[in-house]
Amino acid sequence: MTDLTTTYLGLQLRSPLVASCGPLTGEIDSLQRLEEAGIGAVCLPSLYEEEIIAASLEVDRVLDAGAESFPEALNYFPDLADYDVGPDGHLRLVEDAKAKLSVPVIASVNASSPGGWTGYAGQLEDAGADAIELNIYRVAADPARTGAEVEQDCIDIVTEVRATLRVPLAVKIGPFFSSMAHMAHRVVGAGADGLVLFNRFYQPDLNLETLGVEPRVELSDSRDLRLPLRWIAILHGQVRASLAATSGVHTSADVAKVLLVGADVAMMTAALLRNGPGHVTALERELVAWMTEREYESVDQLRGSASQRGAENPSAFERSQYMKALTTYATQR
Ligand SMILES: Cc1cc2nc3c(=O)[nH]c(=O)nc-3n(C[C@H](O)[C@H](O)[C@H](O)COP(=O)(O)O)c2cc1C
Repeated sequence: MTDLTTTYLGLQLRSPLVASCGPLTGEIDSLQRLEEAGIGAVCLPSLYEEEIIAASLEVDRVLDAGAESFPEALNYFPDLADYDVGPDGHLRLVEDAKAKLSVPVIASVNASSPGGWTGYAGQLEDAGADAIELNIYRVAADPARTGAEVEQDCIDIVTEVRATLRVPLAVKIGPFFSSMAHMAHRVVGAGADGLVLFNRFYQPDLNLETLGVEPRVELSDSRDLRLPLRWIAILHGQVRASLAATSGVHTSADVAKVLLVGADVAMMTAALLRNGPGHVTALERELVAWMTEREYESVDQLRGSASQRGAENPSAFERSQYMKALTTYATQR
């Protein structure tokens, strides 16, 4: 029997296959189908900083309007908890998922700046989340702000969210830091129990008819895995944190690769959207067959054996392969 169990953020998972935030983890029905198919854990869609801020602005506006026109109005405003403002739906989904699933449920908060709103992570925890994933997604467009300042903002968000939580915290970041390894260490130093590598940046497009900017969500394919693959290989054993691979996990070969370089879990959104929850069962079957053929008995045994520390040529994930790749291009075709 191949042992697929893995530990992620201190949580014991039956399998390293995890459903990352996305439409399929936003509905109880598809969450249950993912569990039936053998998923190891699920990460619910993010509660966005903007949703929290918009909701509290709306509540302030309503309260202010009422108070200005007739001060006694405040007396008969219903309890704010009764409003179906942004965060409530997320809190209910966490409660529902915890009631109906037995696999760990990770709730996500998506942030771009520090601020009082970070307390909402604690509410997701109170709703029953087994862990919180903090997605820091920002476009550093202000030319007046230095890289160090932008990085410090990220660290401040992690520190603020960490301070509100008792459950483990994973932090999902993008790859665009000048010194990725240093930043990874700082995020862990600020209290992250795990790193989710990497955020997929969606680039807006321009509509030539309307001249309007249009959001474009293009689903990943396996080629997108190379970036997380490299960085997980480099960071495995370097940071004292769980490592999750996201962006480009589609096939059982992709799963094997990220485990070999040191990931604790392989996360998927696009593959599950394209193939449905049943894809998890197929991936698990193929992974077990691959491991059996190569006499790996467990995910523990597999994990990290091809990371930078485990590799025969430790520099393979750094610069040396760059020159080789470019100079041998003609012979690869
Ligand atoms: C339609 C859609 C919705 C998503 N929603 C979220 C979200 O709410 N929070 C988040 O952190 N990531 C979100 N993501 C990003 C995914 O969790 C994942 O990191 C990304 O799609 C890369 O993984 P993949 O290659 O397996 O798709 C979303 C992705 C898609 C395609």
